[in-house]
Amino acid sequence: MSTPPTILVFDSGLGGLTVLREVVAARPGAHYVYVADDAFFPYGHHDEAEIIARVVPLMGELIGTHDPDLVVIACNTASTLVLSHLRAAYSLPFVGTVPAIKPACVSSKTRRVSVLGTRGTVKREYTRKLISDFAQGCEVTLVGSGELASLAEAALSGASVRDEDIAAELAPCFVGDGAHDPARTDTVVLACTHYPLLLDRLRRLAPWPVDWIDPAPAIARRVSDLLGPAGSESDQAGAEMIFTSKRPHALTEALTPFFGGRVPA
Ligand code: DGL
Repeated sequence: MSTPPTILVFDSGLGGLTVLREVVAARPGAHYVYVADDAFFPYGHHDEAEIIARVVPLMGELIGTHDPDLVVIACNTASTLVLSHLRAAYSLPFVGTVPAIKPACVSSKTRRVSVLGTRGTVKREYTRKLISDFAQGCEVTLVGSGELASLAEAALSGASVRDEDIAAELAPCFVGDGAHDPARTDTVVLACTHYPLLLDRLRRLAPWPVDWIDPAPAIARRVSDLLGPAGSESDQAGAEMIFTSKRPHALTEALTPFFGGRVPA
């Protein structure tokens, strides 16, 4: 039996669990370390220099402690900024999470696409470049949400979150004159890993049906390709959940499905 690879999945909070879930499904035999940098959450409220100064050394410590074979930065707000710094500083593979603008623009029929992310992500040069390279004539509306990541954290932690608060963050994504406008927005990119946690409610609260683009399955395929064939690893695999605030996690039941049924230590 071969030693399972260790995959470290990193986010500012619980949003990266939506990426973890897909990676675990693709590589159930790996060992997982999920790190939520909740001591610095939300990343969307920090400026670029602060995020780089936070994530690059923190990643060095995490690599030193956990010796991962691969790191997934399951956060758009961080990936659109720090990936190049991480790759320059550390020699293991990093897989990032960036707004899925290209597939959204390929599949949109009305040629109107919205990108829903944190205020940080929609401001990034990286995101603007994705639009100039891949919009292919689509009109792309950038929507920076100040609160949706925190609302998703609250909902996953069992707090009640009001529909009106979610709907207010969502409304600017919907461009067009409603039901009879053949050119209204038909595709929304979920450019923050927290948002798929609310997907059922986003669907219900949307003023009209759209395609919601979540990059997590593509990230899982990329991870699997980089690791190579799985072999027979499954017996020793486990899972750990770390909060940088050092708070003990009291969410075992809510978290277990994201770890493929494993209870994270
Ligand atoms: N989950 C993060 C993302 O994908 C952001 C949430 C935050 O603001 O910390 O962008």
